[in-house]
Amino acid sequence: MKKVFGLLGSPVGHSMSPVMHKTAYKRMNLEATYEAFDVAPDQLENAVKGIRALGISGCNVTIPHKVEVMKYLDEIDEEARQIGAVNTIVNVDGYLKGFNTDGRGYIQSLLTVAQNLLDQSILVIGAGGAARAVIAALAAHQPHKIVIANRTEEKAQTLADMFSDTKTSVQASTISKVEEQLEDFSIIINTTSVGMSPHVSDQPISLENLAAGSIVSDLIYNPLETTLLKEAKEKKAHTLNGVGMFVQQGALSIEHWTGHYPDVLPMQEVVLDQLNKSK
Ligand code: ATR
Repeated sequence: MKKVFGLLGSPVGHSMSPVMHKTAYKRMNLEATYEAFDVAPDQLENAVKGIRALGISGCNVTIPHKVEVMKYLDEIDEEARQIGAVNTIVNVDGYLKGFNTDGRGYIQSLLTVAQNLLDQSILVIGAGGAARAVIAALAAHQPHKIVIANRTEEKAQTLADMFSDTKTSVQASTISKVEEQLEDFSIIINTTSVGMSPHVSDQPISLENLAAGSIVSDLIYNPLETTLLKEAKEKKAHTLNGVGMFVQQGALSIEHWTGHYPDVLPMQEVVLDQLNKSK
């Protein structure tokens, strides 16, 4: 019987997940479909009950439901608990378990440009949900240090405090301080929405003191090259946009659902196609 997977979010009209997942299923010869469901916040509990009632095999969860959805599930995986959000639900005979593939998806994407993470000094800009997922996954790889800088400074401190038990030092700083000390960092990651379309000329941090050869990574994929990445490239840094993370988190969801890790290349191609079409 054809399996059904889906996305719970709002809005979901522009989501590239359906076309990306369907492309993967076709390559895997998996008889399955993927539909995006626009779920209002007051309908989330019913939507989750619907997963069980309709026998939907698995769902992705996106904004604004990643945190709220946790209370309606039967079990939360340890990593998702640490991240404090779920983006993947697996349905096994009506028992719903929540996972988070964002952090690991990001690491897999980062490792396409970084040799290893052990010796790296990493700057994370932003202190929201995306930053938390990325930092949790980074900390598991025990880099040399992680520094968080955010517009609202207290939030950077609160997030750093959540990782006080990890082997890696996770500290909070301010945007202006890290701008001055930018040459100390080998990897710089923007997790904020600053620079996202339509505000494409905005930039979360000045790269004036960037060390040549460092990696500058933006979770944004629309535009594919943010102003931050453009400047980083001019300064001879390696750059990474958010497409890889988006594709990898989807691939890891498919692995949770089917036990098989799909070929990510056709998934990436179809996402890039969509992005180029919407330009
Ligand atoms: P997400 O789940 O995508 O991380 P979020 O939890 O709302 O979304 O977090 C958004 C992050 O982007 C925060 O770090 C936010 O900074 P504040 O904590 O100061 O709000 C950051 N952010 C969003 N818009 C910003 C802007 N215009 N300038 C600087 N930082 C911004």
